This record gives sequence, structure tokens and C-alpha cells, in this order.
Amino acid sequence: MASLTADDITTNVLRHLEQTPSPRLKEILTSLIRHLHAFVREVQLTEAEWFEGIRFLTETGRMCSDTRQEFILLSDVLGVSILVDLFTHRKPAGATETTLLGPFYVEGAPELPQGASIVRTEGGMPLVFSGCVRDLEGKPIAGALLDVWQTAANGLYDVQDPQQPAFNMRGKFRTDAQGRFLFRTVRPISYPVPTDGPVGRLFAATKRQPYRPAHIHFIVTAPGYTPLVTHLFDAEDPYLQRDAVFAFKPSLTFTPVRHDSAEGAPLPDLPLPYYSATYDFVLTRAEEAG
Ligand code: BEZ
Ligand code: FE
Repeated sequence: MASLTADDITTNVLRHLEQTPSPRLKEILTSLIRHLHAFVREVQLTEAEWFEGIRFLTETGRMCSDTRQEFILLSDVLGVSILVDLFTHRKPAGATETTLLGPFYVEGAPELPQGASIVRTEGGMPLVFSGCVRDLEGKPIAGALLDVWQTAANGLYDVQDPQQPAFNMRGKFRTDAQGRFLFRTVRPISYPVPTDGPVGRLFAATKRQPYRPAHIHFIVTAPGYTPLVTHLFDAEDPYLQRDAVFAFKPSLTFTPVRHDSAEGAPLPDLPLPYYSATYDFVLTRAEEAG
């Protein structure tokens, strides 16, 4: 029997998949192998480079823990996560767009009353965030739940920073009968994705900037509606067009308004100065999803 050559190895490997019972798994593996082999051929990968790649992926796995998912981070910074998001969540016109969940979501944040603050640490410029949750016809959705999280004033999430109390900068808020919500936080700041692992080495080797534009994360849910995983970006942030994980979408911005006097300020009793911002979320019913 003749030995395999660089020309017929791909066909041979694919033949080994012929008995795969699941058609979808077969489709995915077939395409993956074709593209991997095409990549090796295109760049004429050397054995040393192949081994460096194996070492990189091994370190990526070693970096993963209950609070750190370096593989998701790698997928994020290579643009794979947002590509999957764009395929998965095609929304009808007028519906709020999704974006990445990110690696720092924690279940079990406390439900807080309207107007409460999610801030349990010092620093940052106060921000009053309010808005409405509606359906595609503009009808307010009462009782929708907003699960909110963001970094503290030092640019770190509570799970990254032993100095912060658990659930700092996290909270759940329920909309009132008119679909309205209001909570207090601090104006978010840009922050770098974690660069102390293999993804950080990738950034250094490619001279990429690791910052994400300032944002607040939201998961908005309501019975009968498709859950919305998204974040809202500060419209004045300099990194909007350079997001290290490509998650920015122009429709997902809020514009902070600075209040130096109580006149026109949404909460007249709050110490000045502070910012306010509004955003209205539009949810789709499960059957309206694209
Ligand atoms: C974040 O928004 O928290 C995030 C998203 C993707 C990668 C790293 C951080
Ligand atoms: Fe984030």
C-alpha cells in the first residue's frame, strides 16, 4: 500500500469520519479538518511552530479555573465569539442588539429596589442609569428583570479583585408597571482584558492594545420574551472602535449627561456633581427572534 502524501492526507482523514452518526458533528469536523489542513499547507507550518502552538494551547488550558476561562478569552480576542453571536442572534429591526456575555458574569446577584446603588466601594463618578423595557410595538414590559454588572472604579470586577466585597457592582432590578427601571452606579471606565496569561503574550507578540471601551453589562429577561445578553457602552469612550474583543455595536451606546446643579437632575437629593444616562431596551418575543 502506498504511503500517504501531503496531497491525499486530508481525504484520508475525512474518510475516518464516515461512520459519524450525527450529521451536524460530521459537518463540523469535516470542515474543521479541511480548514486546519489548508492552514498548515498555506503557511507551510514547521514542526517547531506546530509545537509552539501546542504549548500555547496547553498553557491556555492550564490558565482556566472556576473564575477564569482563558479559552473563552482567546475566542473573544480572535473575534470568534462575536462571529458566533452575529450568527446566533439576528434581531429584527428595532430590537436591542446582543453582544458578548464576557467571562465575568456571576449568577446570584441580589435583587435591589428601584433607585438602589450597586456600588459598595469608594471612587468613581456617580451615574444614575434609567430607562424602559418595551416590546417591538413599544408596549412597556412590567416586571422585566435586569441583571447588571460592571467593573469598580479601579477597572476590575469583584471576582478579579480580593479587595472588593462579593457582588460589588452587581445587582438585579425589576421594571415597574410602566416598564421603567432606575439604578445608581459609577460611570464605567475602559479596562484591559486580562493579560497575565497566554492571551496577554499573544497581545504583546502582536503589539495589540488590550483595552475594552467603558461599558455596563446587562441580561434582560421577561416571561414570554427572548433573554437579551448585551452591554451598553459609554458613547464618549476613546476605545469604542478599538474594542479588544470586537463586541462594540453602535446601537448599544448611552450618552452620560453631567449635572453640576440640582436643576433638571433626575435625583435632586443626590450630592453633586453626578452623571445620568438613559437607555430603552426592546425585547423580542421568542417567536419574533430572527
Ligand atoms: C468583559 O466585558 O468583561 C470581557 C469580555 C470579553 C473578554 C474579556 C472581558
Ligand atoms: Fe465587561
